[in-house]
Amino acid sequence: MKRNLALEFIRVTEIAAINSARWMGRGDEKAADQAAVDGMRKMLDTVDCQGVVVIGEGERDEAPMLYIGEKVGSGVGPEIEIALDPLEGTTICAHGGYNAISVMAIGSKGCMLNAPDIYMNKIAVGPDGIGAIDINDTPTNNLKRLAQRKSCTISDLTVIILDRPRHAELIKEVRAAGARIFLIGDGDVSAAIATALPNTGIDIMMGIGGAPEGVIAAAAMRCIKGDFQGVLVPRNDGDIERAKKMGVADINKVYAMEEMAKGDVMFVATGVTDGSLLKGVQFKPWGAITNSIIMRSKSGTTRFVSAEHHFDRKPVY
Ligand code: FBP
Repeated sequence: MKRNLALEFIRVTEIAAINSARWMGRGDEKAADQAAVDGMRKMLDTVDCQGVVVIGEGERDEAPMLYIGEKVGSGVGPEIEIALDPLEGTTICAHGGYNAISVMAIGSKGCMLNAPDIYMNKIAVGPDGIGAIDINDTPTNNLKRLAQRKSCTISDLTVIILDRPRHAELIKEVRAAGARIFLIGDGDVSAAIATALPNTGIDIMMGIGGAPEGVIAAAAMRCIKGDFQGVLVPRNDGDIERAKKMGVADINKVYAMEEMAKGDVMFVATGVTDGSLLKGVQFKPWGAITNSIIMRSKSGTTRFVSAEHHFDRKPVY
């Protein structure tokens, strides 16, 4: 994959972020998401590639745009696969909270896991936690090993967990083990990445979130050289059917990040609202300022890109 594509993809998440940020705090999740989808869809077609959406807004009959299998890009250029979430954290954006982002992971053909839109149990750590995690082991044992790796005590560790009733047992066990917890309302892609960035104060992510978000996070964790594992969590027969339809043979399989996002992958995200990873969109009388991150697994380069968008000189989708 040509590295020059990176800048092209930043433009895509920038526009999606600007569009959805207009809806920040206005209480309308649908409108915020739609604005992001519209911007991302239009901008994607300006990129010279033959892209296919592998993780998107849903299946073809559920989503009119950016559905799984949809062809995107100008139709000229490399064949690529895209896992995207135009607005990761729709509720966050609609309520003006922290950590809403517009995000895409890109790789060559056949690189992304075709994850069904069901839940996934996830565990993530940064580079200093590699080798410490095992999703089939207890949270306590994972914390013990991570503390050893980091030469600290469990009470020094902070676990980031989605605040959901389904995590009551997990939270109880983590507290009993002595670790601190940072509960978040939404946005476990940023949460996974936070484990790998300096100065976030987050050591490990645990818990169940969306499987599609898991694939996007896996791509990011490969670029940062952290570690990430996931296991699908079907809630009913319908979920099992969905998974089978997407080619999942073993529902209990532990997916390593290299199996969710293989080969040479890129990760790009733009902040919609302020967060641990990125600052959100700031509107100015002349336009807007965006903050994005772009990473490549091949080089390991991470770039933070701050951009000024002058609305009198460029169209805003
Ligand atoms: P959206 O982008 O669809 O708003 O997802 C937000 C999110 O919090 C994800 O980060 C997470 O993986 C998933 O929802 C958790 O799902 P649920 O809200 O059903 O617990």
